[in-house]
Amino acid sequence: MTYNSNPNRYSDMIYRRCGNSGIKLSALSLGLWHNFGDVDVLENYRNILHIAFDSGITHFDLANNYGPPPGSAETNFGRILHEDFKSYRDEIIISTKAGYTMWDGPYGDWGSKKYLVSSLDQSLKRMKLDYVDIFYHHRPDPETPLEETMAALDLIVRQGKALYVGISNYRAPEAAKAFEILKQMGTPCLIHQPKYSMFERWVEGGLLDVLEQYGVGCIPFSPLAQGLLTNKYLNGIPADSRAAIGHFLKADMITPERLKQILALNKIATERDQSLAQMALAWLLKDKRVTSVLIGASKPAQLADSLLCLRNIEFSNDELITIESILNYF
Ligand SMILES: NC(=O)c1ccc[n+]([C@@H]2O[C@H](COP(=O)([O-])OP(=O)(O)OC[C@H]3O[C@@H](n4cnc5c(N)ncnc54)[C@H](OP(=O)(O)O)[C@@H]3O)[C@@H](O)[C@H]2O)c1
Repeated sequence: MTYNSNPNRYSDMIYRRCGNSGIKLSALSLGLWHNFGDVDVLENYRNILHIAFDSGITHFDLANNYGPPPGSAETNFGRILHEDFKSYRDEIIISTKAGYTMWDGPYGDWGSKKYLVSSLDQSLKRMKLDYVDIFYHHRPDPETPLEETMAALDLIVRQGKALYVGISNYRAPEAAKAFEILKQMGTPCLIHQPKYSMFERWVEGGLLDVLEQYGVGCIPFSPLAQGLLTNKYLNGIPADSRAAIGHFLKADMITPERLKQILALNKIATERDQSLAQMALAWLLKDKRVTSVLIGASKPAQLADSLLCLRNIEFSNDELITIESILNYF
């Protein structure tokens, strides 16, 4: 069946400028790390992509290694892009990354020019695209000179294979160095993708200031702490949840102390007339330096729930103080 997007898709979404760039991103972006691989159900993730775009989400985030198996999320996204979203390509920001292990041998990992350029070529083939909108270096490489990695990003833009570049998982000092190098090359960094949520707050210790100083956007990943910041684990571990089946969120991370914290946060969310997921996303968006929040979803209903966070992204001082006391309690 032909897919026609909701003509009112832009009416309820918030769009924020990404640093000092010309690009605005939807306040929520959809990540394809989990749930879009060959092990997943096509009709389910197709539906998730339709709901996202129909709701004004313009940004879809991938990486070379997303799946499983690695690469399959890009292949599957490319298929749906061409089958359903072909006429909407210019309304969509697609990002991909390289930086983690992708293929055997010394050129399939980390941050060499050899790896980044060949990996993006492979990503473009998998997605059947001429270019991506954003290409990221996925994690800092302690052994490759930063100048080489940044030169690879600059080259990729000059080759027309990406319009913008970003970095991910870089701490504040190394991010600042990367921004300086890229600025000198004439390819300013568009965006930084750090892990940031109520439960993971290292970015507040300097990175957000550096991003503001350099006019670089911020797109926090795992904003729901992979599902911990929702009500799904309040009554045990559901069999189809990431904690039950995934490798990255382990059941033993849901300690009694964590559960107490989640319960206390859930109470405040209820008082705000929000689900805990909605409050956790709104809590990140209250900071204007956060351009967009990069969510995941395994079911259409989760995405529909998370989208409603935009109805209230304001917090009273009292709410912020209570949240702070819960987050600092354990
Ligand atoms: N740059 C990096 O190094 C890096 C690393 C990780 C992720 N990322 C990016 O960030 C994206 C998001 O990461 P993430 O998937 O960990 O994000 P997340 O939003 O913290 O977690 C998503 C998971 O939370 C649960 N969930 C989502 N919405 C829910 C709701 N409304 N109610 C109840 N449960 C809900 C689902 O878990 P269940 O599956 O259990 O249903 C879902 O799979 C990735 O897809 C990727 O694009 C980047």
